[in-house]
Amino acid sequence: MIIIKSPREVALIREAARVVALVFEKVGPLIKPGVSTKYLNDEAEKVIRGEGAIPSELGYYGYPASICASVNECILHGIPSPRQILRDGDIITLDLCATKNGYVGDAARTFPVGIIGERQQRMIDIAKEAFENAVALVKPGVHLGDICHMIEMTAKKYGCSVPRDYTGHGIGRSMHEDPYIPCYGKEGTGPLLKEGMTICIEPMILEHRPEVRVLKDGWTVVAKDGGLTSHYENTIAVTHDGYEILSKL
Ligand code: MF3
Ligand code: CO
Repeated sequence: MIIIKSPREVALIREAARVVALVFEKVGPLIKPGVSTKYLNDEAEKVIRGEGAIPSELGYYGYPASICASVNECILHGIPSPRQILRDGDIITLDLCATKNGYVGDAARTFPVGIIGERQQRMIDIAKEAFENAVALVKPGVHLGDICHMIEMTAKKYGCSVPRDYTGHGIGRSMHEDPYIPCYGKEGTGPLLKEGMTICIEPMILEHRPEVRVLKDGWTVVAKDGGLTSHYENTIAVTHDGYEILSKL
């Protein structure tokens, strides 16, 4: 069931999502060669708590950290570690959620570490383009499948793939609500968007093949073929004539 939010609820989600955007602003500049992913986790957690919010991922189905920090071929749920040190030329996705006053905001960005190559930059750009192409379609009356299809088409245009088993989602009091928003789909299918829906559109891009595998820690999802990955996510609200990005400053 898709929960339609009142303007008051959208405002609460906007505030939670603003905290996530603030983390990107504050922690993004700390991403450099030589720092550990655990350091980024701890800095992000400080920003979140400093805003009177809670890192929603911590303890979520037992997830052991406050953010996901996913490097290179890791597409999702990289667990921050003091032993994982970033190197020049890496790309790293920070994917995190904040809960404030009972409502959740969620966003992800892939960042460069030091000087990156064209191959790495291209992955960052494709995820962002897929998000922008998809979100541009959002308004009441549009089929959700159109959004999903646009993500898939953008990835394919560059010879890239999207994961089959990990999706975007509705958001509100819970991090994950209906509707589920795959990175692939068929135009003219699925539920119709309505004013007051709050959703996370999150293109996840694999450089080559779509297959992924979960490491023994039970969380870390990596590209099976070892190719690069990228991710771009915002929490958005469907408005009367389009959309509003909530995870921004
Ligand atoms: N923030 C992720 C999303 O975009 C979910 C992370 S799940 C966790 O939906 F368990 F790692 F927290
Ligand atoms: Co999400």
